[in-house]
Amino acid sequence: MDLDQLAALRTPEGSAALAAAGRVAGGDPLAAAAALRSGGIPGDLAAAALTQAELRHRAAGKFGAAAAGMFLTRAGLEQATRRAVADRRAARLRAAGVTTLADLGCGLGADALAAARAGIRVYAVEADPVTAAMAAANAEAAGLADLVTVECGDATAFDVTGVDAVFCDPARRRAGTGRRVFDPNAYSPPWDFVTGLAARVPRTVVKVAPGLDHALIPAGAEAEWVSVDGDLVEAALWCGELAEVPRRATVLRERDDAVSLLTGTGAQEAPVGPVRRFLYDPDPAVVRAHLVAELAAGLDATLADPSIAYLYADEARTTPFARCLEITDVLPFSLKRLRTLLRERRVGRVEIRKRGSALEPEKLRRDLRLSGDEAAGLALTRVAGAPTVLVCRPVPAGG
Ligand SMILES: C[S@@+](CC[C@H](N)C(=O)[O-])C[C@H]1O[C@@H](n2cnc3c(N)ncnc32)[C@H](O)[C@@H]1O
Repeated sequence: MDLDQLAALRTPEGSAALAAAGRVAGGDPLAAAAALRSGGIPGDLAAAALTQAELRHRAAGKFGAAAAGMFLTRAGLEQATRRAVADRRAARLRAAGVTTLADLGCGLGADALAAARAGIRVYAVEADPVTAAMAAANAEAAGLADLVTVECGDATAFDVTGVDAVFCDPARRRAGTGRRVFDPNAYSPPWDFVTGLAARVPRTVVKVAPGLDHALIPAGAEAEWVSVDGDLVEAALWCGELAEVPRRATVLRERDDAVSLLTGTGAQEAPVGPVRRFLYDPDPAVVRAHLVAELAAGLDATLADPSIAYLYADEARTTPFARCLEITDVLPFSLKRLRTLLRERRVGRVEIRKRGSALEPEKLRRDLRLSGDEAAGLALTRVAGAPTVLVCRPVPAGG
């Protein structure tokens, strides 16, 4: 997609092509293109509209119904923040008194739009001309153009003196290849610039990869890990006046917009004890934020191995921060013994989780050759250094 194609999509003919593409997309691409062309839509416009329709369809998981009116690129969509996460961050910025925000490297504008929805005036800058034009178009489509200004330019040269706060979500993919980069020094804008922002603007937030090395967390910053429906999606560094605690796990549930927060130092160690009746498998945001000890304290739970984040307790308590399972059997790992036990119980379906085990769940599932109507949970782990399998059953919610 280039700027001319984007401009063409934003004309009345382009809107009609997008509407037609929305109706035929999702099936055979050649048939869809032929259908559009037979409706009198020129080939170029038809191809661009079909690409948008396909990306909009894919974007619905991230942006909900708003995706239907957005302009998207594949790379921009992959890097964009989910609406639930962006809205949560924007609400926190607004609650901290932020009324003007610079978004340095705004991409398609998912974070900028969320800030604007929260009532924040956003000055966004984006290096890629087509992406910048799409971000502006997305602000217009959302009725937020009055609150979002998008400039095409280099974020490192952007004047941040007049804003209350700065947000930066650096690109973590190599331009051109789209390959992920894991070394923060390869981020764009570069890591030195990103971490230097906090010294220039007292309220800075930086989105980073959830795998961020804790050693890279700037002194005094709050590091937050965010999960949505149990999937770890990102981390953010809240710097200067915005830092409230050393570490935070934000656990979001999209179904009912539930938000659960666990905070702490990230430096505590959970007590170690025996395997007990209930197993808690912590949410990945809790594990990555190094808040397993804080979770253990709230559940009256202990680890069985100091290096493995499974918690064990005598009671089942409802928590948004972990899955709770009742342990029915503790076996030293042996395929034969496990197969025999599951056969005796007529277990035909297993949900396999693992921490501290090199076994491959799918291979194990095949090797177990299950048959029967019952279901069970299996947790592959180590106890006192020995490979162990915990056979479990789910604890009903609220129990
Ligand atoms: C991870 S994306 C931002 C996604 C955005 N937060 C969202 O949720 O839609 C990073 C963006 O920064 C842009 N970028 C990278 N280096 C830049 C620079 N020096 N100046 C401006 N933009 C830059 C990239 O083109 C990319 O679109």
